[in-house]
Amino acid sequence: MPGVTPPVPALDCRDVRKRFGDVQALDGLSLTVPEGAFFGLLGPNGAGKTTLIRSIVGLTHHDSGDVEVFGLPAGRTRAYASRRLIGYAPQDVSLDRFVTVRRLLTLHGRYFGMTKHDAADRADEMLDVFDLTSKSRSLANQLSGGMRRRLLLARALLHRPRLVILDEPTAGVDIELRTDLWEYIRRLHRDGTTIVLTTHYLEEAEELCERVAFIGAGRITEDGTPDDLRARYGARRLEEIYRAVVGR
Ligand SMILES: Nc1ncnc2c1ncn2[C@@H]1O[C@H](COP(=O)(O)OP(=O)(O)OP(=O)(O)O)[C@@H](O)[C@H]1O
Ligand SMILES: [Mg+2]
Repeated sequence: MPGVTPPVPALDCRDVRKRFGDVQALDGLSLTVPEGAFFGLLGPNGAGKTTLIRSIVGLTHHDSGDVEVFGLPAGRTRAYASRRLIGYAPQDVSLDRFVTVRRLLTLHGRYFGMTKHDAADRADEMLDVFDLTSKSRSLANQLSGGMRRRLLLARALLHRPRLVILDEPTAGVDIELRTDLWEYIRRLHRDGTTIVLTTHYLEEAEELCERVAFIGAGRITEDGTPDDLRARYGARRLEEIYRAVVGR
């Protein structure tokens, strides 16, 4: 329609390429995630999911292609404006071991432009949500593996990002927290936050995601709503589609 500008997507990746030595980790990957979506990125080990995510947040520098977050350039050095809009929980647990859990959160808030007061309030709220209040004075390396994962999530959400990217958020997390976590993420989504997650638990993706994309060998091989994909593949479960698309 003339005069109608399309809405700006939360995430727009165009023809992104990244090579590590002789591995083409991203091979001209294009992906659009509309604002407000609950989006699952699925694919086997080594498909390029983490490389893509790290490119979006600027931890990996892609060789070519463009990434935009809410219309702002992303994934480049000094892409601060877009980076502030993103909450990122990495697959590998990386936490400062020398500050307390609470301090780690308040520092993150300050780093992301929050006032001291707001960062402190929000840190306490996140400690409560992720059941870490009793550990607020501990150091990160004094936490259990699952607690560290919770802290990563608390940190990712602390600055109230508009786009939340979770790279295997439930790996190593107990059932109770998994249920709580998804409840919380669902609430964020209902309030308009865009969610992108990777997971190897297909039943999780099936239940939560409004849209999924399969990534294989650095490209998107399939993209659609679970219903569309089930119809297209005559499948009942996402797992059948995964096997058909990934085909290993
Ligand atoms: N820093 C790096 N140096 C060299 N190769 C890398 C590096 N990071 C990733 N790769 C390679 O890029 C490819 C994609 O890896 P990536 O971590 O993106 O996969 P993934 O889809 O996240 O897999 P998983 O499900 O196991 O987390 C792999 O072949 C990996 O070995
Ligand atoms: Mg990964």
